[in-house]
Amino acid sequence: MLEAIDIKKSFSSDGKVVPVLEGISLKLDAGDYVSIVGRSGSGKTTLLNVISTLVRPDSGEITYEGVDLASVPESHLNGLRKSDFSVIFQFHHLLPYLTVLENTLLPFMNSLKPVSRQIEARALECLVRVGLADKARRLPGSLSGGEQQRVAIARALVKSSKILFADEPTGSLDQQTGDTIMELLAELHRDGMTIVMVTHEMEYARLADRIVEIEDGRIVH
Ligand SMILES: Nc1ncnc2c1ncn2[C@@H]1O[C@H](COP(=O)(O)OP(=O)(O)OP(=O)(O)O)[C@@H](O)[C@H]1O
Ligand SMILES: [Mg+2]
Repeated sequence: MLEAIDIKKSFSSDGKVVPVLEGISLKLDAGDYVSIVGRSGSGKTTLLNVISTLVRPDSGEITYEGVDLASVPESHLNGLRKSDFSVIFQFHHLLPYLTVLENTLLPFMNSLKPVSRQIEARALECLVRVGLADKARRLPGSLSGGEQQRVAIARALVKSSKILFADEPTGSLDQQTGDTIMELLAELHRDGMTIVMVTHEMEYARLADRIVEIEDGRIVH
């Protein structure tokens, strides 16, 4: 489904070039559930951003359903991000002036036409699933960090995408809410969604079919 081959990525800071990914290869088959672990700063978020096409690698190849993503125009990548990929960011990226429901509907918002009743109903259903139905009309600023995280998760759920990229989806949540989110991911996986999850909690990483460990820019397991 998605294959990354020998991915390299460096960042420059203070005039120095710092390598972050030093030749990472990863293959995802449809229906896979993979977790990515590694210490803070090891490059997990960078890897997720590269394979979800948000960041271009310096070198290496990414193919998605047989298509080399380096060779397609940005508009094609945009289409893929809209239709096939959902991303839960480590820092939730909610828009402060939109309500919880509107933030959840964001993937469907288009200034030209209003969101259909059907999609709004689906968004509300996703808010129920993450336990936020009663806060649909609130603004993110009036929610706790964990609640904001759950809005971001609902937003990713409302699209029926093929791959979910989740960066520390339980990062700022207590154990019980974290467990609920992991149950949601397991449910999506059972429904056939391909999932790549970054986590630093081994207990959650083990729920995936496969664990990939990054150290010094390379996969060590
Ligand atoms: N845009 C950037 N510019 C410069 N350096 C960056 C940039 N993004 C990431 N880095 C550096 O790359 C390294 C890896 O960062 P990354 O966010 O991928 O780590 P991570 O494994 O997700 O860490 P954490 O567990 O803390 O989220 C870090 O040293 C970071 O400072
Ligand atoms: Mg990170």
